[in-house]
Amino acid sequence: MLFKLRVFKLVVMFLATVLAQNHGSEQSEAKISDPNLECTPYYYAPSGQYVYDFPPVWQPATLLANDTKGQALWAEISPSIPTNIQPKRQPDGSTTNVAYDSENDPDCWWTIRQCTTPKLARLSPDVSSIPEPKTMGYGFDDGPNCTHNAFYDFLASQKQKATMYYIGSNVLNWPLEAQRAIADGHEICAHTWSHHYMTAFRSQDAFAELWYTIKAIKLVTGVTPTCWRPPYGDVDDRIRAIAAALGLQTIMWKYDSFDWRAGQDSTGTTDVDNNYKMFIRNLTSGAFNTVGGIMLTHELNNFTMQEAVKWYPQLKAAFSAIVPIGVALNKTQPYKEPNHHLPTFEQYTAGQVTVPDTA
Ligand SMILES: *[C@@H]1O[C@H](CO)[C@@H](O)[C@H](O)[C@H]1NC(C)=O
Ligand SMILES: *[C@@H]1O[C@H](CO)[C@@H](O)[C@H](O)[C@H]1NC(C)=O
Ligand SMILES: *[C@@H]1O[C@H](CO)[C@@H](O)[C@H](O)[C@H]1NC(C)=O
Ligand SMILES: *[C@@H]1O[C@H](CO)[C@@H](O)[C@H](O)[C@H]1NC(C)=O
Ligand SMILES: *[C@@H]1O[C@H](CO)[C@@H](O)[C@H](O)[C@H]1NC(C)=O
Repeated sequence: MLFKLRVFKLVVMFLATVLAQNHGSEQSEAKISDPNLECTPYYYAPSGQYVYDFPPVWQPATLLANDTKGQALWAEISPSIPTNIQPKRQPDGSTTNVAYDSENDPDCWWTIRQCTTPKLARLSPDVSSIPEPKTMGYGFDDGPNCTHNAFYDFLASQKQKATMYYIGSNVLNWPLEAQRAIADGHEICAHTWSHHYMTAFRSQDAFAELWYTIKAIKLVTGVTPTCWRPPYGDVDDRIRAIAAALGLQTIMWKYDSFDWRAGQDSTGTTDVDNNYKMFIRNLTSGAFNTVGGIMLTHELNNFTMQEAVKWYPQLKAAFSAIVPIGVALNKTQPYKEPNHHLPTFEQYTAGQVTVPDTA
């Protein structure tokens, strides 16, 4: 049985390799422009050989029984995770059976009233704005998308770097696309394994959602993120504590472009355009312009990326700077690995948009 399985795996790998001749390296992958070829699944041995060390892609993650490193880490950090905060909602977002004191919001559950200052004193506040006024903290959720080449080409043509919030399952499915973020000088943060509502998970499963995402990003790109963004913004102090124990800073937003919603309900281009307009207006005038802003935008599909391309010149004209979040925060060491660097805000705005790796 085991032998048959091995032979089957070898045959699958062989076929995938033959079928995927164009999918050999980050550089060749980045050059593909044919939309069908871009999204043709391929086998990439350096990560493909390890897929069984991860939970199934796009399924809510659980900690694998034979993952000794993950199990040991969870055993180490679990005593510090609050047990008096119960899972909320359902992983699919439905809110049945949830009893919560919304009036007092004791768990700083963002979903209630966008709370970003934890009630649990040892936790740092979420990043939802950036200090420099007239500045945009630029970033995109849900990648790496197999169709993102045109968008990343555009960013490269503008010498613009951004923060990419990568979904672990996408990273394993599209490893060469994930590598492009690093090759292009973008910053990578984690965006969970399966993109579910994090406050719905038992603590160990929430840990697994983050653990396997940073593990996939490390396996594929060589770096371990130190930041993450909760899907749907669904975070509370229990989830923050798990993320913090993994060394992940929580990055939120104050403005939502609602680009993700277009086509799902009556939200259309005009609505998304109005949200971009409000973002520019608020950051450049009025009572809210004392700090820089973060807007939720996505590399989810052609529409969301095309909106980003369309609005870029206007954002550029309106603001003094558009920078990755790590740059906005002067976080010069964005990953656990100390040899990778980001420029400071001052360096970036003076034109030094990347800093070479050190040995
Ligand atoms: C864990 O178990 C799976 C089968 O469930 C196996 O494919 C994988 O190689 C194992 N991983 C390790 C690290 O032993
Ligand atoms: C933007 O400004 C308007 C008032 O002009 C205000 O109602 C709105 O809350 C502001 N948005 C944010 C996210 O601060
Ligand atoms: C983004 O990736 C998914 C697969 O992960 C694909 O189905 C979708 O078509 C991609 N987006 C676009 C615009 O093609
Ligand atoms: C969106 O699709 C159009 C038509 O295929 C293409 O020309 C354009 O480059 C795409 N935009 C992005 C940002 O991917
Ligand atoms: C980043 O560094 C600059 C000086 O280079 C400073 O003016 C700014 O306040 C710093 N920003 C943060 C968030 O520390």
